[in-house]
Amino acid sequence: MNTAEEIITPKIVNLDSVNSDSMSQGSFSQDSFVPTVQSRVSIVDKRIINGKTDVNQLVPFKYNWAWEKYLASCANHWMPQEVNMQRDIELWKSPNGLTDDERMIVKRNLGFFVTADSLAANNIVLGTYRQITAPECRQFLLRQAFEEAIHTHAYQYIVESLGLDEAEIFNAYHEVSSIANKDQFLIPFIDTLTDPTFKTGTLDSDQKLLKSLIVFACIMEGLFFYVGFVQILALGRQNKMTGSAEQYQYILRDESMHCNFGIDLINTIKLENPHLWTSDFKAEVVELFRKGVDLEYEYAEDTMPRGVLGLNASMFKEYLRFICNRRMQQIGLDPLFPNTNNPFPWMSEMIDLKKEKNFFETRVTEYQSGGVLDWD
Ligand SMILES: [Fe+2]
Ligand SMILES: [Fe+2]
Repeated sequence: MNTAEEIITPKIVNLDSVNSDSMSQGSFSQDSFVPTVQSRVSIVDKRIINGKTDVNQLVPFKYNWAWEKYLASCANHWMPQEVNMQRDIELWKSPNGLTDDERMIVKRNLGFFVTADSLAANNIVLGTYRQITAPECRQFLLRQAFEEAIHTHAYQYIVESLGLDEAEIFNAYHEVSSIANKDQFLIPFIDTLTDPTFKTGTLDSDQKLLKSLIVFACIMEGLFFYVGFVQILALGRQNKMTGSAEQYQYILRDESMHCNFGIDLINTIKLENPHLWTSDFKAEVVELFRKGVDLEYEYAEDTMPRGVLGLNASMFKEYLRFICNRRMQQIGLDPLFPNTNNPFPWMSEMIDLKKEKNFFETRVTEYQSGGVLDWD
């Protein structure tokens, strides 16, 4: 080894071997760290999974796409209290402000989302983060976890602003079958990663991780969120619930970034570990996409049984197939539903809108905390 490239770094003693009593009594001292000689981090050694390089050293960058997405996400920072909810509150309280079908959409929507983003946050913090050995990807995941907290905050803020029955909305994921079924589909994959004994390093466990990443980025964030987004943004386009619609617009932009990061992560893992991408594995993933589309369509039918806002469930069937095709192509799979078109082209405009362009014109003039919010 070139002496100039040697560096003295502390070797962290395996905590399992340290007596927990002595730790709680504060006697876990610097003596436990034994200096050792280790080579400096080189990008050729960095790996997304099963890497052996020091995860505490952010640079040298290898995965620039992850760092770029981290910077872009930070540039898009927003907080729920920045959005004026006054018009939504008035509309919701006015007896003729919304139809029963429109109210149902809002409640079902929140019923799914108020817990979905907590599932997402837990999946990142307790699961994915531990398995990813590239620090620039971990940096994005930290930002993503905070954004999931902001999203849960935003949904709670809408529930509170409208004075909805919190118990009804927050329990919907147990009590409304079309929501419960989506969550039941996701939970085994989240459980895989959040199991404290789960560890990558074998063909089986690496495939399990990859499958969970695909389910999470492409099916949950990339598909299960989209009926809900279209519904609330369609309300906003009709000048209804514009504060909620603006919140959803920012969430959609964040989720679009999460989904794209997840896809880059999946594709890089595939590149670095081509042996994981077997034909059996691909067939299994294709079936998961098929199931995901069915579940999300069931949710669309349940939330809009009669058609509302000029939207109906069959338009959502086309839309879900369109998105599913796109997600599959993004990770190198053949699309399941050829010759499908996008019935909601305005959705891409929503994703691309800049924060400064206040589409629904609901922004308060100054940033203030929720307790002292003063609407203009
Ligand atoms: Fe989210
Ligand atoms: Fe997300």
